[in-house]
Amino acid sequence: MLKIDRVNKFFFRNSPDERWAIRNLSLEVQDGEFVTIVGSNGAGKTTLLNLISGTYFPDEGKIAIDGVDVTHLPPHRRAVYLGRVFQNTFQGTAPSLTIEENLAIAYLKGKSKGIRMALNERMREVFRKELSAIGLGLERRLKDRVGLLSGGQRQALALLMATLSQPKILLLDEHTANLDPKTGEIIMELTTKLVHENRLTTLMVTHNLQDALSFGNRTLMMDEGEVVLDVAGEERKKMTIQELLEQFNIRRHKMFVNDRALLSS
Ligand SMILES: Nc1ncnc2c1ncn2[C@@H]1O[C@H](COP(=O)(O)OP(=O)(O)OP(=O)(O)O)[C@@H](O)[C@H]1O
Ligand SMILES: [Mg+2]
Repeated sequence: MLKIDRVNKFFFRNSPDERWAIRNLSLEVQDGEFVTIVGSNGAGKTTLLNLISGTYFPDEGKIAIDGVDVTHLPPHRRAVYLGRVFQNTFQGTAPSLTIEENLAIAYLKGKSKGIRMALNERMREVFRKELSAIGLGLERRLKDRVGLLSGGQRQALALLMATLSQPKILLLDEHTANLDPKTGEIIMELTTKLVHENRLTTLMVTHNLQDALSFGNRTLMMDEGEVVLDVAGEERKKMTIQELLEQFNIRRHKMFVNDRALLSS
């Protein structure tokens, strides 16, 4: 379980540029939940994921994963709990390394030094199997450098890498936003498959409101550092994009503004 307890995060605190990016935010995500997150520009969605991953530390409050207080653990010490895929297709993989080298790094993540091993045939077998399940033919390109792949292929690889070591929590930050719609669909299919197969607890930020309602089993809407709407179950199943926007309007007395938001699919 992920537990975020009254977290505050400021940027440029006590300066004229002070920004209160996360405001007294509390959130519990149960094991196996797939939470989608939407919000206005600058709502704090990415900052929330950055606090979970340790890219930033909160100014106040606590974050626990599976009962372990990770609030001030540096990113590399909590990496074993987390997998993450970013919007930027260049961020999740190392372009100058080959596909198999990238996968080996992901595969060995969190394994103790004692059982770490060099890339070997057995690992290659695992990689081939996982890659062929993606259906993009990457299993025949193990020795190709990742820099040669298309954005969609890289994102597929990044997803596989993020899930290979079966993390407790998968963090996705608009990971289909830079892809064309068709490739975005393929990546979302793969996301669903990997999340279900590995029973991953998932937080997915998306600007696509339809995706937010269609995928996963719970939706959060954020604005100005707060969660303003948290829907699940029957209420969510029936919810339309229009109703989602109305709920935002009722709670915040303003229109929902996100310049990348897709209001229809
Ligand atoms: N590294 C940083 N330095 C200074 N301010 C930051 C930093 N990261 C985020 N912020 C500020 O914190 C607030 C929340 O930003 P964040 O990137 O989390 O929003 P977001 O919801 O992800 O927005 P978007 O939909 O545009 O991706 C914004 O006011 C932003 O300018
Ligand atoms: Mg963001």
